[in-house]
Amino acid sequence: MLWSHWVRPLLFCGDAEKTHYRAMTALSVAAQVPSFLSQLRSLTVVRDDRLAMEVLGHRFSNPVGLAAGFDKDARWHHWLSALGFGFIEVGTITDQPQEGNPKPRLFRLPADQALLNRLGFNNGGAEVARQRLERQAPNIVLGINIGKSKVTPNELATSSYLKSFRMLWPFAHYVTINVSSPNTPGLRALQDRQPLLELLEAIETENQRLAQAHARPPKAVLVKIAPDLNDAQVEDVVEIALEAKLAGIIATNTTIRRDGLKTSSQEIEKLGAGGISGRPVHARSCEVVRRLYRRAQGQLTIIGVGGIFNGDDAWRMIGAGATLVQVYTGFIYGGPLMVGTINRQLIEKMNSHGLTHLAQRIGQEAGN
Ligand SMILES: Cc1cc2nc3c(=O)[nH]c(=O)nc-3n(C[C@H](O)[C@H](O)[C@H](O)COP(=O)(O)O)c2cc1C
Repeated sequence: MLWSHWVRPLLFCGDAEKTHYRAMTALSVAAQVPSFLSQLRSLTVVRDDRLAMEVLGHRFSNPVGLAAGFDKDARWHHWLSALGFGFIEVGTITDQPQEGNPKPRLFRLPADQALLNRLGFNNGGAEVARQRLERQAPNIVLGINIGKSKVTPNELATSSYLKSFRMLWPFAHYVTINVSSPNTPGLRALQDRQPLLELLEAIETENQRLAQAHARPPKAVLVKIAPDLNDAQVEDVVEIALEAKLAGIIATNTTIRRDGLKTSSQEIEKLGAGGISGRPVHARSCEVVRRLYRRAQGQLTIIGVGGIFNGDDAWRMIGAGATLVQVYTGFIYGGPLMVGTINRQLIEKMNSHGLTHLAQRIGQEAGN
């Protein structure tokens, strides 16, 4: 009530990107007040072993993570962990710092419970993120999502990813190779078979080398794909991921499609290019996860992301084959108590379906 009737309408008045930074500044200031974070935790953290997932070499206390793009510069993960997430993915981080596209570049589509963004990987670069992570080690399972700098041509993409990978490797619980943002020209072409296989094999080779050099286990590496791939391409990604010995796939990023929206086409056209997230991508994201799950036959971990707003959506995504899920747009609309609510709803669903652990739900509706 307080969130949906008072706080959200107030936050939604201003420019979306400015509001994001203001809200995060407010959180980091409030976090300095003793007991603020523990009070927040008592409202949002759901402790129940039935939600925990042992996967990608780590224990995730619950399956609901924060998707990439929210904490692009690995600046706020320490405080965001108080909001009940099971894990947080920071980034996308590129090897060189970059401003991103001209503003305004982030818009709300309330009629569709969606966002449209063309941020374009605005971030301070891998070296700044490395220093920040060195100063403040993560207090939660941390994924690090890396991408290619805009100025780097696709022919040199592998070395751009490798540079960030090497710098950030020690701090990651898992690493995501992002080849699916619609806002970096040419990036999604890296999803084609040959360039993708080349990139992922180079990353895995470096992963093994770094593991030896640090005398630590290699990191789980996942690739993040677009919802706009056709079904054959989606299935091909599974073959490529297996060939490159990846740990998993994250599906999906934002869509460039504009069909089926409630927001008028004139309004959408006025806003211009970008990727749409939230409710409009949910059905396709679930479908992609279902295809990946069926094809991978348990050999890859799938993280499902796209239009998750509540426990029903998360339950559907896990039923389609996701072991873990992530939220971004739903969190913007749902507010700070959302993750706790989803986890409590998942427990209710397990109880009503007679399951003793959430892992039993994975792929139940993938139709194998
Ligand atoms: C404002 C915004 C920025 C995003 N930035 C990134 C990014 O930097 N890297 C990335 O892999 N995905 C990024 N995403 C995509 C999300 O991580 C997620 O895959 C997508 O939004 C679908 O989930 P959702 O419907 O819960 O938002 C961004 C999404 C939004 C809305």
